[in-house]
Amino acid sequence: MITTVTLNPAIDRSYIINNFKPNNNYRIDDVTVTVGGKGINVARTVSALGEKLNATGFLGGITGDYIKKQLNDLGIATSFVKINDESRNFTAIIDPINRTETTVNEVGPFVSKTELTKFIKEYIKILKYSKIIIASGSVPKGVPKTIYRDMVKIAKDNNVLPIIDASGKFLEEAIKAKPYMIKPNLKELRELVGYELNNEYEIIHESKYICKQGVGLVVISLGSKGAIFTTREKVIKVEAPNIKAVNTVGSGDALVAGFAVALVNKFDLDNAFRYGIACGAANALEKGTGNIKKETVERLFSQVKLTRLE
Ligand SMILES: Nc1ncnc2c1ncn2[C@@H]1O[C@H](COP(=O)(O)OP(=O)(O)OP(=O)(O)O)[C@@H](O)[C@H]1O
Ligand SMILES: [Mg+2]
Repeated sequence: MITTVTLNPAIDRSYIINNFKPNNNYRIDDVTVTVGGKGINVARTVSALGEKLNATGFLGGITGDYIKKQLNDLGIATSFVKINDESRNFTAIIDPINRTETTVNEVGPFVSKTELTKFIKEYIKILKYSKIIIASGSVPKGVPKTIYRDMVKIAKDNNVLPIIDASGKFLEEAIKAKPYMIKPNLKELRELVGYELNNEYEIIHESKYICKQGVGLVVISLGSKGAIFTTREKVIKVEAPNIKAVNTVGSGDALVAGFAVALVNKFDLDNAFRYGIACGAANALEKGTGNIKKETVERLFSQVKLTRLE
């Protein structure tokens, strides 16, 4: 079983407003509501691929209840820890005329020490039934910056493969516990290494350096260009299929989900890379986030080109 961890889930609301301006009053009939947070996007993709999973993390208030219900309605088993504060809302106002995107991102809940301890207990319990854990996204207030590092250590102690898709200090700390896999995009890798990274050579150099520190697999996703997969044995470049992208938000989450599903289904490593890339592209073909179609993934899979660089 795959376990997804979302410490800071959200309800994502997106409004399409032509000629959006402050101080105006708008009546909206084009509203898209999705439950999100990167780990929840991963959960939705894993579920769309027909794989068994459990989604955990923190949820609070009526926002939390709504998120849980949406996941359960999709047939996703959940074991979130209930917190006292309300889970967050994320609002985006998209103006197609002026091509602007205004976002309002609530900081979200505070997690108490007792709630954190409860989560760790729950996490250890779920690991007993899991092959892979995927922890993704931002972290709420009250949770220490070592959280992903601690979770990686506990997963490894329980023979579960930890995959971390995080950024900044949280990623930096997680690397110290040597996760099985990390998947920064180029911007997140730049932030981690502290310089611009202008070419493939530099990306590979940094990926190899992270592998030397003990990370099993470093995946640097490059949007429409695909991704570079680095292990201690090899460096593989996987090109994304040429598609007409509709919405690439969550494509990284879909890549991670697809790769994990492929591993659980005993694909060899190269084919798991290809499957992950096919899922990233399949997500980009849909309006929603993480609502991929398995048939699309299977069709794209055969088009994914893989080159061994080292
Ligand atoms: N325009 C596109 N065309 C084809 N494939 C794409 C496109 N955009 C993304 N992908 C696929 O999805 C993968 C992940 O995308 P990307 O690098 O944008 O991840 P990300 O920035 O982590 O996204 P997010 O954090 O929103 O999930 C890419 O490696 C690629 O395989
Ligand atoms: Mg990402």
